[in-house]
Amino acid sequence: MTQDELKQAVAKAAVDYIAPKLERSSIVGVGTGSTANFFIDYLAQYKDDFGGAVASSEATAERLKKHGIQVYDLNSISEMEFYVDGADETNEHLELIKGGGGALTREKIVAAVAKTFICIADESKQVGILGDFPLPVEVIPMARSHVGREIVKLGGDPVYRDGVTTDNGNIIIDIHHLDISRPVQVEEQLNNIVGVVTNGLFARRPADLLLLGTSEGVKTISR
Ligand code: 5RP
Repeated sequence: MTQDELKQAVAKAAVDYIAPKLERSSIVGVGTGSTANFFIDYLAQYKDDFGGAVASSEATAERLKKHGIQVYDLNSISEMEFYVDGADETNEHLELIKGGGGALTREKIVAAVAKTFICIADESKQVGILGDFPLPVEVIPMARSHVGREIVKLGGDPVYRDGVTTDNGNIIIDIHHLDISRPVQVEEQLNNIVGVVTNGLFARRPADLLLLGTSEGVKTISR
């Protein structure tokens, strides 16, 4: 199977998992990226059976609206059962690196609100130790050089993602060669740097369920 076919398989598996649990009032949190896009396309067939969605990016909001799915501001929502999103890497504890698409901050906010975070990923995303994928960090523009110097002190190689502005008007620094053998600690260290909005490590709030697309089928892995 191609990588896209694996992504489609996990996206469909996520819809099959949540659809029977959705009520007319349910709000679904929706992630960003190609796997999340497949999820949106499958979810659309149930659009009359649940209340609507909260989007983790402008691009996702756009796609949801095109399908006729109502998009809500997170501040108008008191409860969210599910957040479904892809990842750039996952380890066995369902700690993730996210933000390849630059939407990490909004993704982390929506994930924080959801009762259940379902990660959908093809098997290429499963790793032993996080960090081969450069770790994205969203940074206030005026703090770019300061944050870069602090990242070097932590042992990483910061690379400015040229030409990218996030939905929040900030920049992205991708950290290469960082030791992420202790993800919770690294997540906290990076977030403590002044000027960092947040980083793409989802370790303090990992996924609750991983639907992993493999050539033998979709594997369901929970924490
Ligand atoms: C976007 C993300 C995505 O979930 C991550 O980049 C995976 O993307 P894809 O599903 O296209 O492989 O974190 O910020």
